[in-house]
Amino acid sequence: MSRQVVIRGVIPRGAASKPCVDFTRGGIYLRALPGDGVAHMAKIGMGLGLDFGTSNSAAGHVVDGRTRLIELEPGRSTMPTTFFFDQETRRTLIGEPANRALLDGVEGRFMRALKRVLGTSLMHERRQILSERVTFVDIIGRFLAEIRTRAEAETGIAFDRVLSGRPVVFHGADDPREGRAEEDLRQCYLAAGFRDIRFTPEPEAAAIASGALDEAGQVSLIVDIGGGTSDFSLFTSGPDGVRILANHGVRIGGTDFDRSISLDRVMPMLGKGTELRKLMGPGTSPVPNAIFNDLATWEKIPFLYTPQNRKLAAEMERLAHAPAKLARLATVLERELGHDLAFAVERGKIAVNTGSDDPNILLDQIERGFAIPLSVDAVADSLSRHAEALSDGADETLRLAGIDRDQVGKVVYVGGSSLMGMVSDTMRRNFPAARHSFAEVFTAVADGLAIAANDPRLVDWG
Ligand SMILES: Nc1ncnc2c1ncn2[C@@H]1O[C@H](COP(=O)(O)OP(=O)(O)OP(=O)(O)O)[C@@H](O)[C@H]1O
Ligand SMILES: [Mg+2]
Repeated sequence: MSRQVVIRGVIPRGAASKPCVDFTRGGIYLRALPGDGVAHMAKIGMGLGLDFGTSNSAAGHVVDGRTRLIELEPGRSTMPTTFFFDQETRRTLIGEPANRALLDGVEGRFMRALKRVLGTSLMHERRQILSERVTFVDIIGRFLAEIRTRAEAETGIAFDRVLSGRPVVFHGADDPREGRAEEDLRQCYLAAGFRDIRFTPEPEAAAIASGALDEAGQVSLIVDIGGGTSDFSLFTSGPDGVRILANHGVRIGGTDFDRSISLDRVMPMLGKGTELRKLMGPGTSPVPNAIFNDLATWEKIPFLYTPQNRKLAAEMERLAHAPAKLARLATVLERELGHDLAFAVERGKIAVNTGSDDPNILLDQIERGFAIPLSVDAVADSLSRHAEALSDGADETLRLAGIDRDQVGKVVYVGGSSLMGMVSDTMRRNFPAARHSFAEVFTAVADGLAIAANDPRLVDWG
């Protein structure tokens, strides 16, 4: 039986660390190409680049001057950022096995979009999961530890150092949770056993990955629309590499697209917007919205399955003008089908976007034959507010950089949600003269982080 041997590289203090730019504070970034020190540093394994995503995660490092992404799932360099706590085996599954357990109806608790919880009070609350009382810091920490273990097993390098991506904005520039979010993520990396943890904005990493391919002098815009956030970086490329002109971000991503579609198309079929008879006396009152809002929000679903909510749904069904709709809500809460519903909405969204015939949201698990048709117009309608916010986000990035839209020569799309037609339609309207191209949408950020983590001119690990 073969055994992986982990070799701890010893980096002499000060070696290959000059000239350098403090990557965490912005500045001029140098192009990472073979033969300029990168290959040398890679041999002793400087750091792991890790893109912890709302929906998917990826990690990479540099070998002989080339980025190499870790095979996180068999044959794949990304893994879903998902968890499943299996009630029977008491095991915690992550990634594809977690998704499969949900799909197979295994008894347990599923979680997705935990990145959106960073910075909130929920992160540090202890809750009983399987046989332990744990926080989300512990849970995310274990996910990151698993990535580290897989990276170390594949490469034979001990990764004590990690360069992590972070959205430009987690919650909002003036939001009190903003500062706490990065600190929470740092705690998660510490819990995973990393000792030196640095952060860089995700679109900057994508700029580094794609900038190496650009013509000198060109102004390009990264539009990184993921599961949780939309991030913009304006940059120029020159013979010396990539120079960031401005970063900007908004808390809008594919999970918000799913939420809007769910609230508009699915929740009304579960009773949202209907009326309840008053317990006493004549007249009606509207069904409260909170439960529908939470059911349409990926990161809130795991907290819905409480005895109080089940009781509330049963009570509402009894008083409803449309009891068949509220019965569906009761079924979802009783049988814990919230994530199945959210995945069905996501599949419907992608089906519309990819032009499939007869797209719908298939909710067979809730009620046999229950499917909600979804049209291009319906999706466009639900997402129009988000399109506007993305357009404003791009404008704000231009304003921060102090440049005009017609100076932008190229728009580069990154992130799974950049595949939405709505996103490129919006950006084409904003930048009609630019060239529009897609990067490796799911891995460009991890590629850039890997490059930067292993280039001593970009990150000085000290
Ligand atoms: N073909 C597609 N069309 C539209 N949306 C898609 C498609 N494929 C994936 N998505 C959406 O992309 C999102 C995930 O993208 P990605 O993996 O880039 O996000 P992430 O990096 O995990 O999130 P973030 O960077 O915001 O933390 C999901 O919301 C998913 O629904
Ligand atoms: Mg991303």
